Amino acid sequence: MYREGQVSIYAPNLEKYKRGSHLEPAWAPVFYNPRMRLSRDISISLINAYCIFSNRNQINIMEPLSATGIRGLRYAKESICVAKVFLNDYDTLAYKLIRKNILLNSLSEKVQVFNKEANALMYEFSEKMDIIDLDPFGSPAYFISSALRRIKHGGMICATATDLPPLLGIYPNVSWKRYFAKSLRTEFSKEIGTRILVGYIAREAIRVRKGILPLFVHATDHYIRVCMQVIDSPGYASMISKKIGYLIYCSSCLFRGIVKEIKNKKYICPICRKNIQYAGPLWIGNLWNKKFVDIVYEQYKNYSYFEKRGIKIIEYIKEEAKAPLFYYKSDIVAKKYGFKNEMSPQEIIEILRKYDENVSRTHFDPKGFRTYFHPIFISEKVRKT
Ligand SMILES: C[S@@+](CC[C@H](N)C(=O)[O-])C[C@H]1O[C@@H](n2cnc3c(N)ncnc32)[C@H](O)[C@@H]1O
Repeated sequence: MYREGQVSIYAPNLEKYKRGSHLEPAWAPVFYNPRMRLSRDISISLINAYCIFSNRNQINIMEPLSATGIRGLRYAKESICVAKVFLNDYDTLAYKLIRKNILLNSLSEKVQVFNKEANALMYEFSEKMDIIDLDPFGSPAYFISSALRRIKHGGMICATATDLPPLLGIYPNVSWKRYFAKSLRTEFSKEIGTRILVGYIAREAIRVRKGILPLFVHATDHYIRVCMQVIDSPGYASMISKKIGYLIYCSSCLFRGIVKEIKNKKYICPICRKNIQYAGPLWIGNLWNKKFVDIVYEQYKNYSYFEKRGIKIIEYIKEEAKAPLFYYKSDIVAKKYGFKNEMSPQEIIEILRKYDENVSRTHFDPKGFRTYFHPIFISEKVRKT
């Protein structure tokens, strides 16, 4: 038995499934990863924030890939506005364990569980959902189209991706097959991967005449998690189609820019005239809604037992929510431009703040910072100090 937040659950004894000193939660007969507690803590604040932001109460949530049920059980017990949670797992052992865990937490009134294939459940279910939370092994791509069908107008879809090698540009061919997008290995791949995932969901939504409004994303530890509102409107769908584009990136001078189309695969850098690379299609709009992020922050602080690390992450996100796309890294800029001493991102930000009020840290990387300025400008200003 494990205790997490306000719930207790039966789950496999992870120690028994260790291979040597290595422990992989997916090796156990039913999946439970205590390291994902932070993601679940943040998600409870996201649910509360969603209710406040969209003025909804007594909402219903579907979590079609539940394993032990820990996530949905915590939503039922700990969030402020949840009326009903629908859990599901196609694995019979997981299904039975979820049933036991519902009883263990006296949540039979609020939580119902199914033993179906997730897409089948989302297709067949009679009610529409306020929130659908997709937390699969690997990529959520396979489940997006059914989630878009089952979500209410104005509802929120959250999706976790743990298939980082394709999204971060280590396996760009897999990214192409899974997300119809070219990923790229750079110092800011976490943001590229996040934008590929949001862009993919946006394109799936546009296809069925819906639009999305990204509310909150974070890339922490070994996963990327994105949450967005879904707007059931063809007009909104065509408007957001303008938010799909491509990144162009020069690894020689670190220039990064956005284009709507890749007309010519041999782009030349506008700054240093070297060949540049591209990634996409991806989301080029905001990844966060500032008002939503502020509510998430307040909500997270209300729970004294949540992981403290979450506060720091949301504080960085509050800073970067309106800052320029595609962060730089202080160590890479220092190396490229031959700084005598590597400065911390905070020191660089202090120098740049006079010229760019939107300069900020990023939660994606402890050495990351965001600015509109090209590193040539940054290095000039750094050298003068
Ligand atoms: C990563 S685990 C879910 C973890 C859980 N959300 C948590 O927070 O602990 C993914 C679960 O999805 C189930 N699953 C995978 N593919 C499925 C499908 N197509 N339909 C239903 N369940 C599926 C697996 O059996 C597994 O239990």
